[in-house]
Amino acid sequence: MNIGIIGAMDEELELLLKKIELEKTEDKAGMIFNFGKINNKNVVIVRCGIGKVNASICTQILADDFKVDCVINVGVAGGIGKNVYPGDIVIANNLVEHDMDTTAFGDKHGQVPRMDTFDFKCDKALVEKAKEACKNFKDYNVFVGRIVSGDQFIADVDKIRWLEKEFGAMACEMEGGSIAHTAYLNKIPFVVIRSISDNANNGASMDYEKFKPIAIKSSTVILENMINLI
Ligand code: ADE
Repeated sequence: MNIGIIGAMDEELELLLKKIELEKTEDKAGMIFNFGKINNKNVVIVRCGIGKVNASICTQILADDFKVDCVINVGVAGGIGKNVYPGDIVIANNLVEHDMDTTAFGDKHGQVPRMDTFDFKCDKALVEKAKEACKNFKDYNVFVGRIVSGDQFIADVDKIRWLEKEFGAMACEMEGGSIAHTAYLNKIPFVVIRSISDNANNGASMDYEKFKPIAIKSSTVILENMINLI
């Protein structure tokens, strides 16, 4: 089993990279792929950079060049659901690219035109393992639901209301949907696990800076638990 782990930013992977028994690194498309073992499991850990294009390129490299058996995406996200607050965890069971818009042709917002699916579904077994990995997570709530992604940092109450109404989303971020899309096309099982850093509202950028370190600590613990379960 070769587990691909993607984070968008250095901060999101810093703690996890401290746990890897590093065997080698490889630089591709400006991304450093770290190969090694965590608790005896083969992992490739990579920072993809921010946004959907970076995340998609990274996932395709993991598929083509490094033949990963599954992809796990971790990081922070804006909380959307009524009760989803900073510190909480959202495990995606499916993802949609909220900024995809061909409504002019009669498509729903988020539908990738001419694709055979509206949402990109996470692997059921990986979602179960992610839930299990959160079992001892007592301080905050753990949710399973839809995560939406777009090339936008959301800091706008009207926009989060729209994301909730249109997509029933629990969290928003900027990579998961394109990782899911790419993994789907390559038939690689995937899951996205996000820690909430803000509520995507007017104070989002301030909350984001405050809660990011807490959120990153929890997602690292969860990820390590999860690696043990795979
Ligand atoms: N990642 C963390 N918070 C976010 C937000 N509010 N919008 C988009 N991506 C995020």
